[in-house]
Amino acid sequence: MQTLTLPSLIQVWMLFLWFASCNCGPDPRKREDLINQEKSRRTGGDIQLNKDEKLLDAKLQKLKQHELETGQFPPSMHFFKAKPLIEQSPIFGLLQKMPKGAALHVHDFSIVDVEWLVKNVTYRENCYVCFTDDQSVQFIFSWRPPASRLHCSSWILLRSLRETIKNSTELDNSFIRNLTLFTEDPDRAYPSQNVVWKRFEKAFVVLFGLVTYAPVFKDYLYEALRQFYADNIMYMEIRALLPLTYELDGRRNDRNWSMQAYQEVVKRFTADYPDSLGARVIFTVNRGVNETEAMSAIKEAMILQKNFPDIMAGFDFVGQEDRGRPLWYFKEALSLPEEEGVKLPYFFHAGETDLQGADVDQNIMDAILFNTTRIGHGFALAHHPLVKEMSRKLDVPIEVCPISNQVLKLVSDLRNHPAAALMAEGHPLVISSDDPSLFGATGLSYDFYEAFVGFGGLSSDLGTLKKLTINSLRYSSLPDQLKQKAIAALLVKWDKFVLESLLGSTTSL
Ligand SMILES: *[C@@H]1O[C@H](CO)[C@@H](O)[C@H](O)[C@H]1NC(C)=O
Ligand SMILES: *[C@@H]1O[C@H](CO)[C@@H](O)[C@H](O)[C@H]1NC(C)=O
Ligand SMILES: *[C@@H]1O[C@H](CO)[C@@H](O)[C@H](O)[C@H]1NC(C)=O
Ligand SMILES: *[C@@H]1O[C@H](CO)[C@@H](O)[C@H](O)[C@H]1NC(C)=O
Ligand SMILES: *[C@@H]1O[C@H](CO)[C@@H](O)[C@H](O)[C@H]1NC(C)=O
Ligand SMILES: *[C@@H]1O[C@H](CO)[C@@H](O)[C@H](O)[C@H]1NC(C)=O
Ligand SMILES: [Zn+2]
Repeated sequence: MQTLTLPSLIQVWMLFLWFASCNCGPDPRKREDLINQEKSRRTGGDIQLNKDEKLLDAKLQKLKQHELETGQFPPSMHFFKAKPLIEQSPIFGLLQKMPKGAALHVHDFSIVDVEWLVKNVTYRENCYVCFTDDQSVQFIFSWRPPASRLHCSSWILLRSLRETIKNSTELDNSFIRNLTLFTEDPDRAYPSQNVVWKRFEKAFVVLFGLVTYAPVFKDYLYEALRQFYADNIMYMEIRALLPLTYELDGRRNDRNWSMQAYQEVVKRFTADYPDSLGARVIFTVNRGVNETEAMSAIKEAMILQKNFPDIMAGFDFVGQEDRGRPLWYFKEALSLPEEEGVKLPYFFHAGETDLQGADVDQNIMDAILFNTTRIGHGFALAHHPLVKEMSRKLDVPIEVCPISNQVLKLVSDLRNHPAAALMAEGHPLVISSDDPSLFGATGLSYDFYEAFVGFGGLSSDLGTLKKLTINSLRYSSLPDQLKQKAIAALLVKWDKFVLESLLGSTTSL
């Protein structure tokens, strides 16, 4: 009889362990399969990366891992504090260079760096300022001293004021502060949504006298197109209030003038930058209007749509959703185009709220019922499973604006943005920036950073970015043929970006 030697005993024991470990756990191949299936569902999961893209992606993932491990993680912080950190991030550097397609959710007077307004616009001739009782300012252009306004000092010609005080740095900085929401301590300055929205509206009043001066109105649009173009954006859809503009003698121009100004500036810009597609207008009115006013706004939108089909994209309501009227209140006005057989596409802001179950919370469903082309924000989408299904089935994307949602206090840590779940399941969406200049941002790169590094987490990759970029043109209001051409042009830019980033990376990444 043979006795078992010690080495063979160990072998038997190891064999036993191997069997035990193999039989008691879930099948690792099945696990692998599930992981891959889940991966394929998320935004960009259907995109096959080529060899170069895979190389760049590997580098991006390494950078992201590194960013997650350093002490201060920008997406978890308020944007006002995160901004200088984001600017140091090599990922941000790449996102700035990345062709980002279109900006589909931005507003007419918050798309140019406010420094341009102060350093360029307020330095023009005939610019007057008055100082309000509540420590704010107002501006107006006029060829002679205008009549003073209630709750404001008498008008002072800025040029004379600057000559008197000699060094204007402090004054200019105070103007800049009035034009943005930026503050050192946002949590203390803006304890609630209502407070931050009030401040938002106050900044708007400061802007108004500058940007509605007819020559500035045109220059502002050109400068917006230029700044977005510099951020590698080839096209914009601008939610525009189209306020009446004024001339130096106080004369007012009508809406036709504003639309023609858009037409003319876009034409000039696309001639100067032939790879840009310029911009189109989504006419907006404040959601605080009553039924009668809404009715005339819709009628006017229908006329503009008919007279300016190349530049007019459709209609939307703006303003703080929680305090405005719900879409259902406007149902008669909103049904008018259909009744008259006129096509007026809608692009509703909806679900920019955390008031679950309130009247405004219903907006997101009503937006779909009124055949909205896209949903602005859709922050509350996860609370509405049926609407979510419909939006997916109808291919109605949501326009996610991360920094806006954070500054306007719907979410504080951007890793917890509801779009994280939507991206994981590949819900149709685009990234946009809403009112970048008021938040101290520009273009789309900052919002792309928050989306990609913040709620995208480690699972979003170069495929995600490519998908988001293509989405921005796919879901635009451009006519089909133009859209296909734009996507083709974008993909050429994309390949160039990938190659250049790889070449540049030997030194900088
Ligand atoms: C201000 O902007 C206008 C138009 O964009 C430009 O022509 C002009 O040179 C600028 N002026 C200054 C002082 O920057
Ligand atoms: C706005 O400008 C006025 C006048 O220069 C200044 O007194 C005030 O502090 C500014 N507001 C902010 C929020 O900085
Ligand atoms: C103007 O004032 C600012 C700060 O108040 C200072 O930094 C700057 O050097 C001054 N400029 C001149 C030309 O004196
Ligand atoms: C709607 O608002 C306008 C302008 O504020 C006002 O003149 C009108 O009376 C209002 N209509 C109704 C029905 O409340
Ligand atoms: C506005 O412009 C359109 C097209 O350019 C024109 O047909 C219409 O008569 C104009 N309306 C007014 C009030 O000027
Ligand atoms: C929305 O579209 C559907 C299907 O095309 C149509 O039946 C319905 O009347 C439209 N509703 C509105 C308000 O336009
Ligand atoms: Zn908006």
